[in-house]
Amino acid sequence: MDMMRKLVAGNWKMNGTRADGVALARDLAGRYAGLTDPSFDMLICPPATLLAPVGEAIAKSGLALGGQDCHPEDSGAFTGDISATMLGDIGARFVIVGHSERRQNHGESDHEVAAKAGAAHRAGLTAIVCIGETLEQRDGGEALAVCSRQLAGSIPSTATAANTVIAYEPVWAIGTGRAATADDVSQVHDHLRADIASRIADASAVRLLYGGSVKAANAGELMQVANVDGALVGGASLKADEFWGIAKHCG
Ligand code: 13P
Repeated sequence: MDMMRKLVAGNWKMNGTRADGVALARDLAGRYAGLTDPSFDMLICPPATLLAPVGEAIAKSGLALGGQDCHPEDSGAFTGDISATMLGDIGARFVIVGHSERRQNHGESDHEVAAKAGAAHRAGLTAIVCIGETLEQRDGGEALAVCSRQLAGSIPSTATAANTVIAYEPVWAIGTGRAATADDVSQVHDHLRADIASRIADASAVRLLYGGSVKAANAGELMQVANVDGALVGGASLKADEFWGIAKHCG
C-alpha cells in the first residue's frame, strides 16, 4: 500500500450473511481490480464470521482485509474473543480498535485500546485507532481536548506511520445522517496532526481518516479537507455503488 494515498475503509459492523457479504466483496474487488492505476487504497472490515470468505473473494484484487476488534493478548482463555495474531493468520492486514461502539457498549478504556493496538502491532497489523467526542462534549466546547486525551491514551509506544491509522469519528455523527461539517473536520484534523507530532515519528505520514455519516454525496467536500487522508465508512459501505462513489472522491 502506498502510504500517501487516501484510504477508504468499510466497517460493516454486525451486518452481512455469507451470501450477501461475499457478493458485495466480489463486486468491489472486481471494480478495484479493474482500475489500471488505483489512486486510493480500499479496505473491507467484515464481521469475524465473514473474514475467511470475504478474504477469498478479494484475494489478488488489491483490496485489503481488516478485523473490527482484537483482544490485547495473543492467545489464551478468552471465550468469544479474537486475537490480532488470528486476524493476521486469516489474511487481515488491519484491525479497527477503540471504535466508539466498543468504548460505549463494552466499556473499553483508552488504556485497553492502546493494549489492543499494541497487540495489532506485535502481529504485524496496522491498527486503526478510533477517537471522537460525544455531542455533549462538543456542545461543552471540549471536542479538541477529548480527542487529545483519547489519542494520548490510546496510542501505544510501538506506533509508527506505517502501522497506525487514526480515525476521527465524532459519536454524534455515527449512523445519524449528520456528518460533521468540513470546518469541524478541518479543525479537529489539524489539531490531531499537531498532536501526533510529539507521539509518532514521521507524523505527517500518519493517515487521519474521518468517519461518521460519510456518503457519496458528502465525500467530495469532506475528502478535500487538508489533513483528511481517507474515510472510515459504516452504513454506506454496505452498498457497492455508494461505497465506490465515496472511493472516487479519495483518488
Ligand atoms: P456510519 O458511516 O454508518 O455513520 O458509521 C461510521 C462508523 O462508525 C465507521 O466506523
